[in-house]
Amino acid sequence: MTAERPVQAVILAGGQGTRLRPLTHARAKPVVPLLNRPFLAHQLALLRAHGIADVILACSYRVDDVRRALGDAEHLGVSLRYVVEEEPLGTGGGVRNAADLAAGTIFVLNGDILTDVDLSAMVRFHEAHGARATIFITRVADPRQYGLVELDADGRVRRFREKPPADEPLTTDTVNAGAYLLDAALLGRIPAGRVVSIEREFFPELIADGIPCFGWPAPAYWRDIGSPAAYREAQLDLLEGRARMLLPPPGALRDGSWFGDGAVAAADARIVAPTALGERVHVAARARVGPGAVVGPESRIGPGAVVEGAVLWERVEVGEDALLQGCVVGADVRIGARARVGPDVVLESGAVIPERTTLGGRAS
Ligand code: GTP
Repeated sequence: MTAERPVQAVILAGGQGTRLRPLTHARAKPVVPLLNRPFLAHQLALLRAHGIADVILACSYRVDDVRRALGDAEHLGVSLRYVVEEEPLGTGGGVRNAADLAAGTIFVLNGDILTDVDLSAMVRFHEAHGARATIFITRVADPRQYGLVELDADGRVRRFREKPPADEPLTTDTVNAGAYLLDAALLGRIPAGRVVSIEREFFPELIADGIPCFGWPAPAYWRDIGSPAAYREAQLDLLEGRARMLLPPPGALRDGSWFGDGAVAAADARIVAPTALGERVHVAARARVGPGAVVGPESRIGPGAVVEGAVLWERVEVGEDALLQGCVVGADVRIGARARVGPDVVLESGAVIPERTTLGGRAS
């Protein structure tokens, strides 16, 4: 019997995103802007490119943000349905909640991974191995932050080890990338109505019960955008071509930069590629934006200001001769004239930075 091609995906989008605070105080992680689009729009573009158009979002924390940003996602070529946990049920509980809407072989994705992985190749692997669960695995420099996945010689998963402590010897550098193909019938194994971890409970139990569960190593771009540094770097990866851009920023591409509708730069301002300016951004005289800058809609960059390697959300006001390098700036932030905001600084939405303030020290 040949399995039917998967057409459905469940995206886990209910976490609090504590590592991405304070940005996630203002907006749920699944819809923080990435190149001026809600993050999940990039995942939906990947799914759609592989023929997956029926998507179920397992939400909990700040679900209204997600609905506002994505709606039913018809404009993105997919149909989005929401299942909402009143109390967060964990990664396993979130998927369990979607079980009534899911059938056949389904993708399950963590709602915070940016990847261009070939999902169609994953389906072929899954079918060729007679798997009931396939886990996309990837190599990372810092495996202890993730779930280690140990494989047998034939690719079957032997052991899962979630976030091992520093004193435990590492047995592998391949980790769970947070993208799975599952036989939806397996979801019935997840107990309803209580917190369940897919990584710590569901998968280890599948393995213990001898259910064919395979690891699929794919040479794809992959990044968990769950920390401020990774969130910023993911956008540079897309702008600078290290990750395949499945969904470009809104606007027209000119000289290697994107200009959203109504974005304007003064004649002697410089927009240095690659940069993405959102709709109605205004860049004043003598200012320089880029390289590697993402400026949210309706932001205003003051005369002589410099913004490079930085991500700004919407309606940010940057004062005259201010300098922003390598930072992340939430919505409606006001940065005073001649202020300096350096690498790794994250400014909460609504923050006001007085004139001549220096934050982060390393801006030069
Ligand atoms: P941190 O607190 O920064 O670790 O982020 P997080 O809350 O998102 O947790 P984590 O990164 O471990 O979550 C992985 C994925 O699962 C993310 O896409 C989360 O949105 C999602 N997730 C985590 N917990 C839940 C939950 O209780 N319910 C649902 N539906 N999704 C969850």
